[in-house]
Amino acid sequence: MRLASLRGGVHQAVQGLASAPLSTPSPVRSFVTMLPHVPKAKQAGRGLGSFVSQENGTTRPQFAAAGMPPAAKKSAEAPAADQQPVAPAKKVDASDKWKEITVDMWRDAVYTNQTYFGDLISDTTEFVKTIAEHIKLSGRRCSLVEVGCGTGEFVREAADDFRTAVGVDFNKEFVDFCKEHTIPRNAAKSHYLQGDACQLYELLKEEFPKTPQRGSDGLIRRGVEFWDDTRIVACVGNTIGIIPEELRPKVYEQMAGVAGKDGVVVMVYWNAKWFGDAVLNFYHANPKLCGAFEGENVDFKNTTLKTPMDYKTKWTSVDEARAIMEDLGMEIISLREKGKGVFVAARRM
Ligand SMILES: C[S@@+](CC[C@H](N)C(=O)[O-])C[C@H]1O[C@@H](n2cnc3c(N)ncnc32)[C@H](O)[C@@H]1O
Repeated sequence: MRLASLRGGVHQAVQGLASAPLSTPSPVRSFVTMLPHVPKAKQAGRGLGSFVSQENGTTRPQFAAAGMPPAAKKSAEAPAADQQPVAPAKKVDASDKWKEITVDMWRDAVYTNQTYFGDLISDTTEFVKTIAEHIKLSGRRCSLVEVGCGTGEFVREAADDFRTAVGVDFNKEFVDFCKEHTIPRNAAKSHYLQGDACQLYELLKEEFPKTPQRGSDGLIRRGVEFWDDTRIVACVGNTIGIIPEELRPKVYEQMAGVAGKDGVVVMVYWNAKWFGDAVLNFYHANPKLCGAFEGENVDFKNTTLKTPMDYKTKWTSVDEARAIMEDLGMEIISLREKGKGVFVAARRM
């Protein structure tokens, strides 16, 4: 792709996107900008009040720099993005595309790109951990499900805080990677399931029988704890943005169903304000992930990138996130914007 023409297009388009940043932090209601003069090291404490809903304007967030898997070395050894082979521009079903992505493609693109997504990844863990703390303080036990867990970075990071931690993904290679890389101390509580988010409830019922059952190994399997717990059902890292639009209502419905009336649905969208920046500095810099694309593949109005391979990714604004929850009839517990993320916690009314 001709970078100069894309860059020109991005600059033009972002003028129409209110306060869209180009390589600058999001200025509005951002967690980071709420602590503008505090050096990063001093932001390390994790306060219980950190995640009071931003809706009431009382948020005083503090964040720990949650660690990420040691992928940096691999990144340093990898060839420069421009020298990497470009994915072939064959047509594939959008879902099949994700089943084809290898562990290395995904981790190189996102998790070795600490400068682009590092803050968002650690903020996501903090957001979910803090909700879990609130649930536990109210005297209930808590389990986690992540829809579209990829290589399991988020589940691994969060597992310590939950009685059971489940990752679901339809890419078998990702699920195998997750199983192989479970932290030993969390092995018993970690479950990685290969399957479709559109059948989330059935998948979980199979993994966690609602009545204790003897498995083929002769051991009693008790899934009852999982269903007794308050469940946080999360979809982070913009997974929902890559799920075909017509399937999203089904995924939301399944997530809300698994969370049940006491549980919490957590969505972490990639922030529409950063879409123009990401086109240049994430997608264009990672041709292995989504293939080569031209300016015509970038829909700034709908903040969606559609590559010639039919890979589609939607970046979501705060207003859109609010509207989605309202349309689903969900009560918003927390809706915040921080840097490249829009963070939502909601429950069934
Ligand atoms: C954008 S990646 C995010 C991965 C992970 N959440 C993270 O933040 O690193 C989206 C993941 O969702 C998975 N996925 C997409 N559609 C799915 C579906 N219908 N059911 C299960 N997994 C799905 C893909 O295989 C991919 O691993």
